[in-house]
Amino acid sequence: MEFEEVLSARKSTRAFTDQDVSDALLQELLQEALTAPSSTNTQAYRVAVATGHLKEKISEALTAKYDRAMWVQKQKFPVKLVAGALGGVMPNGDFKPDMNYPPELKKRAIECGKGLYGTLGIERHDREGRNRQMRKNFEFFDAPVELFLFIHGERGVYSALDGGIFLQTLMLAAANRGLGTCAQASVAMWGGTVRRFFDIEHDYKLVCGLSLGYPAEDIVNTFQPEKRRVEDICFKAR
Ligand SMILES: Cc1cc2nc3c(=O)[nH]c(=O)nc-3n(C[C@H](O)[C@H](O)[C@H](O)COP(=O)(O)O)c2cc1C
Repeated sequence: MEFEEVLSARKSTRAFTDQDVSDALLQELLQEALTAPSSTNTQAYRVAVATGHLKEKISEALTAKYDRAMWVQKQKFPVKLVAGALGGVMPNGDFKPDMNYPPELKKRAIECGKGLYGTLGIERHDREGRNRQMRKNFEFFDAPVELFLFIHGERGVYSALDGGIFLQTLMLAAANRGLGTCAQASVAMWGGTVRRFFDIEHDYKLVCGLSLGYPAEDIVNTFQPEKRRVEDICFKAR
């Protein structure tokens, strides 16, 4: 593919076919992603890859957490308080989930949600519908591969940058081969649960998931949120 074609082919894929991704292809994609630049070439990230039975087990554990959290959310005080504290539903990831958007960014996040749910015909007040879509994150959108991205906990923003550039390179490499991807910060919410399935060094922290596979023909994959214009991101000189 031409570079421009790869750029426009890469978009978040939230429904996948059941076609497997071969181990050889996965290795090639990871090899290509390793060409990404990193701070002093430290490449301060690691991945854990789940396919087949392992992927199903992780998905079961995460959807169970999600379902329980949704149940707790519907309870009234004091059941809600007690179940929330003792029911094992609290986020157990390496990073605190941060849903506090500053106003400028909140507007864009709301537009993104509206666009996604609008594409799916989920009405504004249909909380159940939104929850059902959210739950699909923990089913990894039925992708044959779920990859978990860990960054070194000691290098702060530079680890995050290294990991982010690696992730984007991986997503572009996948797009170049006709595969779809969706980055998933949501799965890091219960990172402690994911860790149980792998031998993860203590220094590495789960920052994001990535579902990977062949895109299904599904309305959800037609959603294309509007991007900022160049003039909107450039600060003006004094
Ligand atoms: C770090 C990161 C985390 C994301 N987490 C999620 C997620 O948990 N669930 C989801 O459906 N999409 C997630 N996305 C996808 C974004 O919603 C998507 O990239 C954005 O709306 C722009 O759309 P595009 O990827 O199709 O260009 C994430 C993207 C990034 C970069």
